[in-house]
Amino acid sequence: MEQLIQQLKVILGTNFALYLKSHNYHWNIEGPNFPQYHDFLNDFYNAVWLQTDDIAEKLRQLDVYVPGSMERFLELADIQEAVDVIPSAISMMQNLKADNDRYIIHLRAGIVAADQASEPAIGNFLQDLLGAHQKKAWMLRSIVK
Ligand SMILES: [Fe+2]
Repeated sequence: MEQLIQQLKVILGTNFALYLKSHNYHWNIEGPNFPQYHDFLNDFYNAVWLQTDDIAEKLRQLDVYVPGSMERFLELADIQEAVDVIPSAISMMQNLKADNDRYIIHLRAGIVAADQASEPAIGNFLQDLLGAHQKKAWMLRSIVK
């Protein structure tokens, strides 16, 4: 159970970092394909944001308090946050592809941990997130090709 709890915390921190980074990119992206990128990032950050509350509440269902500060999210997140330097549009997409791949690794680890802890409902929830992010991985792979 401890492993599942820790993995859910890492997923939450990584989710939040992915949300903020994709929203940052939505605001700051530039280039000739601005409308497409801006819309793609809009869909991306909204989808990731909608997951945040459910991930956090899975921890509460396990009777664990949720780490909910920027400091703790930065400790838990397995992706680098975007700082003030604004990358090119294609670099943003490459960064997001790598970050989405990191998120997938942690979702997979969460599914294994949920199975080991005999928590199939949480495993099921994480499987749904995994499917959604595998679809995003395909899109990001296609953008940067
Ligand atoms: Fe917007």
